[in-house]
Amino acid sequence: MKRLGILISGRGSNFEAIADSVAAGRIDAAIAVVISNRPEARGLAVARERGLNAVCIPSKGLDREVYDRLLAEELKRNSVDLVCLAGFMRLLSAGFIREFPLRILNIHPSLLPAFPGLDAQHQALEHGVKVGGCTVHFVDECLDSGPILVQTAVPVLNDDTVEALSARILKEEHRIYTEAINLVLAGNFRIEGRRVVFT
Ligand code: GRF
Repeated sequence: MKRLGILISGRGSNFEAIADSVAAGRIDAAIAVVISNRPEARGLAVARERGLNAVCIPSKGLDREVYDRLLAEELKRNSVDLVCLAGFMRLLSAGFIREFPLRILNIHPSLLPAFPGLDAQHQALEHGVKVGGCTVHFVDECLDSGPILVQTAVPVLNDDTVEALSARILKEEHRIYTEAINLVLAGNFRIEGRRVVFT
């Protein structure tokens, strides 16, 4: 059975959605380890409550290369096949990415390449777009970059607040992350330039 490593920094609702999918048999894989770079992350407590292997590797004060080496070691120790970033608020170094080629996914709450970086939903509202959404993509060395696996759109309503739009998007995030993990685990795709072509 394939083994997932989930990296979080905070609330962990995407992690929980993945864990629910694993528990319900919608994802044919096991969660080998949940790693947080922040000891106070809510998701870390949730992972422990669920009886999962939950590890904190605090990133504070560590150089990126040093931190990423610790991270890679922990993932390898747990024989992780696929790394899922779920609200993990750090850029990963080239060295780390090379260790897991096409085996690192991220979820972002916008229709990339629109609105990368922090507060994507706020950026979308400020820009006045009529459609928002979320994206699961392979991770490369740049922020919210990398070939796109799954995207889905949601409407932006006249009276939307950041909270309302974020909640509408989050519901879709929870759905498409499972879908994207299954696509990658099935392995029926090839990469052509930036495009993920399903075969
Ligand atoms: C999500 O909106 C995700 O797209 C972004 O950070 C947020 C994390 O939320 N990368 P959670 O920790 O999964 O609840």
